[in-house]
Amino acid sequence: MSDSAELILEGKSYKFPIVTGTEDEKAIDIGALRAQTGYITLDSGYKNTGATESAITFLDGEEGILRYRGYPIEQLAEKSSFIEVAYLLIYDKLPTAKELDEFSDRIKRHTLVNEDMRKILDGFPYTAHPMGILSALVSSLTAFYPESLNPNQSKEEVDLSIIRLMAKLSTIAAWSYKNSVGHPVNYPKNKLDYCSNFLHMMFAYPTEEYEINPVVVDALNKLLILHADHEQNCSTSTVRLVGSANASLYSSVSAGISALWGPLHGGANQAVIEMLEAIKADGGDSKKYIEKAKDKNDPFRLMGFGHRVYKNFDPRATIIKKTADEVLTALGINDPILTIAKELEEAALTDPYFVERKLYPNVDFYSGIIYRAIGIPTEMFTVMFALGRLPGWIAQWKEMREAKEPIGRPRQVYTGSTERDYVSISDRS
Ligand code: SDX
Repeated sequence: MSDSAELILEGKSYKFPIVTGTEDEKAIDIGALRAQTGYITLDSGYKNTGATESAITFLDGEEGILRYRGYPIEQLAEKSSFIEVAYLLIYDKLPTAKELDEFSDRIKRHTLVNEDMRKILDGFPYTAHPMGILSALVSSLTAFYPESLNPNQSKEEVDLSIIRLMAKLSTIAAWSYKNSVGHPVNYPKNKLDYCSNFLHMMFAYPTEEYEINPVVVDALNKLLILHADHEQNCSTSTVRLVGSANASLYSSVSAGISALWGPLHGGANQAVIEMLEAIKADGGDSKKYIEKAKDKNDPFRLMGFGHRVYKNFDPRATIIKKTADEVLTALGINDPILTIAKELEEAALTDPYFVERKLYPNVDFYSGIIYRAIGIPTEMFTVMFALGRLPGWIAQWKEMREAKEPIGRPRQVYTGSTERDYVSISDRS
């Protein structure tokens, strides 16, 4: 197997090194392409372009494989906890019992946010989308912890920023929900585990404790684990790009939250439920909507279907679909939109349009059904995605900084007007 690729340009031969990953993935390192040839590559949407080498997550879209630091997602979803998976992603090891306790306790000690943050929160109208609040409040952490702006922080200082963000995002997320319903916020109860504490902050009332349901806690743990990282997706690439400019962890994650908000990305889980509810309201005719999704003249897309990388089942969707059945049964909920979702999936998986394009249910197709069953409102679904993806964003930002990667600055091919002289306004038509 050759260790380089040959490119013939204008009769001249150029060689570029081949890079092989630990899972035998191959890449052509074109770092010297422009210097040697004057050419750049062009790849809209980066469908064929690797931005970095990373040791955090491996996924094989053709085989439907997803592993965090080498551990299969199926095993982690079944046996681990979200905080343990966060430790694994950020520090590249499964923690000992002592390490996990220390990590969990450090996070618990930082769940409170500065009371002045409530003044920022109060400034948002109740109509504000929680993702907009989340991005703004995460960025505001730079105001409360200005030392986080120092790009030359020590390892210990970076670690403290990581712990603060892991701890405070769940408080900020719950508070953004309470703001949207005009309810008083709940303060964290640090005797509770991470997921129970979040549910308490979301659903407790001044007059009524939230009764922790182990079925709900287990489902939330699984969902957060399944969302924890996904290599160089849109929002993670945003976090790495912003971080490459020596922007702080908080600023980089705030940008990642905004990218995740897009309905083609993390916003899809909200769009899926809105789509299923619209189909239900329109009589529940799944076949009609399958046809709409295939019609190029119809802007309708089957939200929660298709993926840039997975050309097989998204392994997360398989686990989430099973968990949805378990949770709804355990909670005694019969949700008609789950039936519509299953009918859509069945119809799409046998329809040539979807089969030829290898369009399968992705992580967002069933997740909203579980969030709905545990009482999370639709507008909070993408916030839940952000909560889960946080350790992945942190791990990727940390890896990029430790590798001392250069500032990200893609090239372009200019297609605008060639040189022309200025025309005074009186001479313009
Ligand atoms: C996430 O990257 C990640 O890892 C993301 C993520 C993560 O964990 O971070 O996995 C999370 O973002 C999951 C994806 C959530 N988005 C949706 O569910 C929105 C609906 N899906 C699509 O819009 C689409 O499938 C994308 C955006 C996910 C992927 O788009 P691509 O890779 O750019 O593919 P494409 O748009 O070029 O589609 C290829 C073909 C096109 O048809 P043709 O031009 O070949 O005729 O498939 C069609 C598309 O029209 N198509 C769909 C479709 N998705 C693709 N047709 C109908 N319904 C759909 N959902």
